[in-house]
Amino acid sequence: MKHMASADRPERPTLVILAAGRSTRFGRAKQLEPVGPGGASLLEYAVYDAVRAGFGRFVLVVRESQRDEFEARLRPMRAAGVSLSLACQRLVHPDLVPLAPPGRVRPWGTGFAVLAAATALPRQGPFAVCNADDFYGRVAHERLGHALADPPSGVRAFAVTSPLANTLSAFGGVSRGLCEERPDGTLLRMTEGLDLRLDGDAPRTGEGAEAPAARPRVVGRTPSGAAIRVDGDSQACMGLWGFFPDILPLLEERFRDFVAASPGTEDEFYLSETVGDLAAAERTRCGLVPAGQGWMGVTFPGDRERVAVSLRQLTEAGAYPVDLWTPHVHAKPVGSAQPSLFGPPPAPPSGVATAPGRINLIGEHIDYNGLPVLPMALDRHVNVDFEAVAHSTVELEGDSVHGSFAFRLDRATESAPRGHWSNYVRAAARGLLDHGVELRRGIRGTVTGTVPVAEGLSSSSALVVASALALLHANEAQVEALELAALLARAERYVGLQGGGMDQAASLCGREGHALRIDFGPLRVTPVPVPEGWRWVVASSLTRAEKAGAVRELYNERRAQCAEALERVGRTSWLEVVEADEDEFASILAGARKSLPLTLSRRFRHVASEGRRVIEAERALRGDNMAAFGRLMNESHASLRDDFGVSTQALDEIVGVARDAGAAGARLTGAGFGGCAVALCRANEAKGVIEALIDRFYAPRGGVDRRALFVADASNGATVTP
Ligand code: GLA
Repeated sequence: MKHMASADRPERPTLVILAAGRSTRFGRAKQLEPVGPGGASLLEYAVYDAVRAGFGRFVLVVRESQRDEFEARLRPMRAAGVSLSLACQRLVHPDLVPLAPPGRVRPWGTGFAVLAAATALPRQGPFAVCNADDFYGRVAHERLGHALADPPSGVRAFAVTSPLANTLSAFGGVSRGLCEERPDGTLLRMTEGLDLRLDGDAPRTGEGAEAPAARPRVVGRTPSGAAIRVDGDSQACMGLWGFFPDILPLLEERFRDFVAASPGTEDEFYLSETVGDLAAAERTRCGLVPAGQGWMGVTFPGDRERVAVSLRQLTEAGAYPVDLWTPHVHAKPVGSAQPSLFGPPPAPPSGVATAPGRINLIGEHIDYNGLPVLPMALDRHVNVDFEAVAHSTVELEGDSVHGSFAFRLDRATESAPRGHWSNYVRAAARGLLDHGVELRRGIRGTVTGTVPVAEGLSSSSALVVASALALLHANEAQVEALELAALLARAERYVGLQGGGMDQAASLCGREGHALRIDFGPLRVTPVPVPEGWRWVVASSLTRAEKAGAVRELYNERRAQCAEALERVGRTSWLEVVEADEDEFASILAGARKSLPLTLSRRFRHVASEGRRVIEAERALRGDNMAAFGRLMNESHASLRDDFGVSTQALDEIVGVARDAGAAGARLTGAGFGGCAVALCRANEAKGVIEALIDRFYAPRGGVDRRALFVADASNGATVTP
């Protein structure tokens, strides 16, 4: 038997899903039948539960004729990052059945299906096997995952079991592996029971009865036709198994014997019987793992409705998202986090989500024009100290100024009054929900922070990012950082300002000691080291720049003007303007000056020239040419003041004082209309710059609020500390 050539030792078990059955009693391909409220089939639930239980790969055994249908249905799972392959079960097999016996149409049975999957299995490491048309539930997969990770000595196989009476159908007889146990709890033998149903004379359950009810009996027959009559409490294997690769040669050997005995056209090589025989012959030891609650099968069409109702209830209770395979959102594997097989459930996630503010070094009001910018994450943060709550409510307490608030996640689209800080948290929740993240749990906690508020240092985006991370962590979901930055940038626009994507990306992707070159369409972040010996002094103009306040209209107006200017000069992309060669750039600017009204031509000149300054500034940073960087900052400020109209007298003054005091360059940072300026200076000159600012700018205005003047270090991006 050939196995996969890779010598990789997989860390996590593989799940083989048997989906090649003919569904004769069901009438159509029941393996793909949608049953969940979002249209997922049972095999998708098996994959979803197994991912959460720590399984790493999936092999689906299908018939050749179903391959395309399955491939199509696998796409969303693959897009969600699930490693899935198909193995075809045929009647012939190069080693085992070179020629199909005449008249045989029926597949060879579950034992052979496992052999058909073998080529797609990793050479080493455990694997599990389940039926595509049964629902086992998360607990069963978790328990099996744990058993495979830490098998008792000598145990090389596991059968997951349930009380037989719980596995029957109200609509007809079913087949189950009936288990007999050894005193040590391992399998003594297993018999395939066919056409199993509750014995009509016996009451099914004693639940609620005052006197102990008679135990239910189950009747059926063996494959050879012998009558079966067993206790309903006896353990039945429902087709979920765990194995190590050494089972494969044993199965092969038994299958050869089966074929050699010239089976009829309908005889099947059952996995249950084979493992039972191997256990009885002490060729393998098979542990029994109780499945816990939850097994449901779809043998008959009538079973479907019952399963659909249960899945809807489970979904409403938060056990599953409606859409299992929302791209880029992965349920975190929890297998290894479980304390023990039967231990208590893990504590609800809690932690502190910390997201930094940012200063923009250069590249202002150009992110929303799709042009690269060069900010850095600050060493000042917004912290959301949270614990997950089972109900989907967000309840956060702020400081004495901001107060507390609560909202329901299913009402995240409703806004609090304009300017209320809860709107940023609502925006984070809404962004995640719109992206398809299932927020089953809410959070409760407190928000603290060191990012000065309404100072153009992106305290609002830091709050959005920290809230989103807290919600993701509480729900054990993950979204890749750039994806998250992009979705949160969109989400923050719900609050009103039609911002670009700089702030959220800087907060999420900051790197200590580095500026960040951020490109858009698609979003990319490239850290650029800041040369040693240089500092960034941040100074407030003492005028608040509230994104949700007056700044909003002025900002949005600028954004619209830029779009109009670009369109009126007949261009479709700012990048193409910025990347033009010297001569062409000069002629584009001259053309804009001639064709556009004065305001628009100034806006045009700012965006075009600022775009080029960012490229030069990055070059200066990489070349350790900080004098050039400073000059570019000065030019940027002049352009923002004269052409873009977003500076203020106070900002101009700060910039002037800082330069006079020896800064290599200074400019307003952020959207402007108030907020802060940033000055670049040699480390040994920072003190002098600060003193000059205190003397000449702050003292005449009644002194300095300590938060408003500080030296900033480039810092790492947002994190969650559990
Ligand atoms: C605000 C926005 C950013 C960016 C700056 C100006 O901070 O949120 O996207 O446009 O203004 O550069």
